Amino acid sequence: MRNKIIAEKLSKNLKEISVAEFFEKNRHLLGYENTTKAMLTVVKELVDNSLDACEEAGILPNINVSVKQTGENKYIIKVEDNGPGIVEEKLPFAFGKLLYGSKFHRLRQSRGIQGIGVSGAILYSQLTSGKPARITSSTGKRYINTIDLMIDVTRNEPHVISSKREKNPEKWHGIKVEMEIEGRYIEKGQSILEYLKQTAIMNPYARIVFNGPNGKVTFSRVVQDLPKLSKEIKPHPYGVELGILRRMLKETRAKNILSFLKSDFSRVGKTSALQMCKLARISPKRKPHSLDHNEITRLHKAMQTVKLISPPTDCLSQIGEETIIKGLKKEIEAEHFIAITRPPSVYKGRPFAVEVGLAYGGKLNPNKQVDLLRFANKVPLMYHQGDCAITKAVKEVDWRRYGLQQPSNSLPIGPLVILVHFASVWVPFTSEGKQAIASYPDIIKEIKLALQDAGRKLKKYISRKRRSHEIQMRKNLFERYIPEAAAAISKISDVPKEKIIEGLEKILKKGLKEIDIEEGENSNEKETKNGS
Ligand SMILES: Nc1ncnc2c1ncn2[C@@H]1O[C@H](COP(=O)(O)OP(=O)(O)OP(=O)(O)O)[C@@H](O)[C@H]1O
Ligand SMILES: [Mg+2]
Repeated sequence: MRNKIIAEKLSKNLKEISVAEFFEKNRHLLGYENTTKAMLTVVKELVDNSLDACEEAGILPNINVSVKQTGENKYIIKVEDNGPGIVEEKLPFAFGKLLYGSKFHRLRQSRGIQGIGVSGAILYSQLTSGKPARITSSTGKRYINTIDLMIDVTRNEPHVISSKREKNPEKWHGIKVEMEIEGRYIEKGQSILEYLKQTAIMNPYARIVFNGPNGKVTFSRVVQDLPKLSKEIKPHPYGVELGILRRMLKETRAKNILSFLKSDFSRVGKTSALQMCKLARISPKRKPHSLDHNEITRLHKAMQTVKLISPPTDCLSQIGEETIIKGLKKEIEAEHFIAITRPPSVYKGRPFAVEVGLAYGGKLNPNKQVDLLRFANKVPLMYHQGDCAITKAVKEVDWRRYGLQQPSNSLPIGPLVILVHFASVWVPFTSEGKQAIASYPDIIKEIKLALQDAGRKLKKYISRKRRSHEIQMRKNLFERYIPEAAAAISKISDVPKEKIIEGLEKILKKGLKEIDIEEGENSNEKETKNGS
């Protein structure tokens, strides 16, 4: 009896939780745990969206970011892009409803995926400023739409406070977002400036202008072409989990299992589909939604057993070696640059590719730990460095082999910036904040292989540099003794001293020239392979 009363009491409190309410309470999960990080997260979500939208529309991105202080710990953030904009009916939902987006249900490389980034930022803004966000959008047609928007947190629905429509004689297109937030502005370390600088390195085809509290900084465009646009692919059988297969069987439009396997998955032809059916002891003519639990389990197992070729990799959009070098050169004052783009690989049926860039020497400090720049789908990862597969891979490489110092289980020491880009249709982030990549062994292995390729090239350069330094030292020594040696030889040979000096200098020059040619041949081979 007592249990029944308690159960009835508890049942009264059972109700649905809105996702907006959940993230309002757990805002740290989205990167809003302190004011410095929150400000960076807002800018990052807006800029990442702008870059995604521009790239998808084939537009070279022009992005303006502005941060203006309005009070103690209060700032207005504005981000404007020249992208395709959003149609009027969808505008409130894209910005005012959490878990609403265009990228979640597709397998294709993009910066955003969850449909939570910008609405999370607006949620944080209204929580800390109590004010609506202003969004202006145009698709380049007759009108420009502006809405003042808040999120109805208990219902997770957009609440448009006011809206207006203006004529668009200039055919402007893009999105402008403006919101007030509680924040703290810094310029060192994990800051907006550092995020924009790293974004500029990885996206050198974008022009980004930042108007901050301390003035204007322009990150110019040095590459005039957008990277190859990634294509959407279907899931590969090796990456599909049992529960997902069950849902796909329920939702498919295919009339029978054979056409379901052929049409809803990548790399499954008639022969492999029939093989799967045979292994699972299911007739290929069965209706997909008629399968019971045991049959689905057997089909799932059969799908993992049949040999299939890897998924297509045109769903990826790598940056490429040449662009990586251009990006690094424009933002980092180093003397030598190396880039490696590995061919795509697969984890859990999902394609991914690793790229590595190195900037060495020049103004970089030789006595400190190297700077590690981590990127996932062209977005800089600014936090949780220690938890990231990229950091683990860098530490596991033996950098002493490539001419650097390295304390055990640490990043190497030397005048070096290491850039690692992980590109995939589904980046296995460790949390919703999207700041670290999970340590799948296949991923760590690929990153290490790319780092080792780059490391070997670095070693060649360092050895060459060391050798030419030694030669220079020897030359200096020799030059210093030429007058003395010439005087002595002149005494015993009766040849005038000046003539002997001339002869010795000729020998020295010839020797150096031969060494130069030899070194040049080695470096030419390296340069073409690098594309540098
Ligand atoms: N600047 C923009 N231009 C065009 N469309 C945009 C822009 N910003 C956002 N959108 C649209 O709004 C949707 C929601 O954006 P949001 O940042 O919340 O999610 P997302 O980018 O899909 O994923 P994530 O949560 O990982 O960032 C996007 O999927 C996109 O369709
Ligand atoms: Mg986003």
